[in-house]
Amino acid sequence: MSETLKQLWENPANPELDVAIQAAEAANVCTAGTRELTPEELECHLGRVEEFKAILKKQVEPRRYQHSLNVGDAARELAELNGVDPGKAYLCGLLHDIEKNRPLDEQERYMRQLGDLIPDHVIANPKLWHAPAGAAFIRDELGILDADMIRAIKYHTTGRPHMSPLEKVLYVADYVSVERDYPGVETVREAAYRNLDEAILIGGRFTLISLLERYRKVNYDTFAMYNEVAELMGARFEEAAAKAEEEARAKVAKVENPER
Ligand SMILES: [Fe+2]
Ligand SMILES: [Fe+2]
Repeated sequence: MSETLKQLWENPANPELDVAIQAAEAANVCTAGTRELTPEELECHLGRVEEFKAILKKQVEPRRYQHSLNVGDAARELAELNGVDPGKAYLCGLLHDIEKNRPLDEQERYMRQLGDLIPDHVIANPKLWHAPAGAAFIRDELGILDADMIRAIKYHTTGRPHMSPLEKVLYVADYVSVERDYPGVETVREAAYRNLDEAILIGGRFTLISLLERYRKVNYDTFAMYNEVAELMGARFEEAAAKAEEEARAKVAKVENPER
């Protein structure tokens, strides 16, 4: 048996999943030309909020514009609760969908301009392009060079394992912004203001169920993120599951032996 086959035999995980994890690790290295902003630079970007809003308004549909404002607000609140810079979080929320309604050829151009290795499963799904495209847009058109902010926008749709606190804040804010009304949003929202990982686990579960029910492909980064958080939060949920099971059993016993 060749060495590669032997490795696969011993570790039967989907090789593409390993690629996703490696890519996520590689993403911890800055995207070309990015670094951490100085406080003065961040202050300067925050002073340009009205200018950014005007650009956003031109680039996206009215509904998307309102969503962006709401995600900005939610991201700022979640940042404050989690010791993350609220200014960075607000700007990420405001700008995360800036490429969402742009023509696909423009989205593809910016996605490639980012210069990062884009996995095949992202290239194959145009719905995911606006995230890396938006990351390149804020770096190259708005001059926001912050590595953590660029990554937060790049991964806001799929998530990834090893997300930074800012990345988690944006990922969750996009799930729970005030206009969101999908079934179960209240559960995710309630968890979001308690614990970001719990919200990612519950939100990720909703996403996976919805994809599986429609026989859609699951993005490898999403899968790897879900597994990571499930492992982290698993014990807590096992306790909750055991308690629910016990309560259900007690209910059945009560029906079978009603007290007189
Ligand atoms: Fe998005
Ligand atoms: Fe969004």
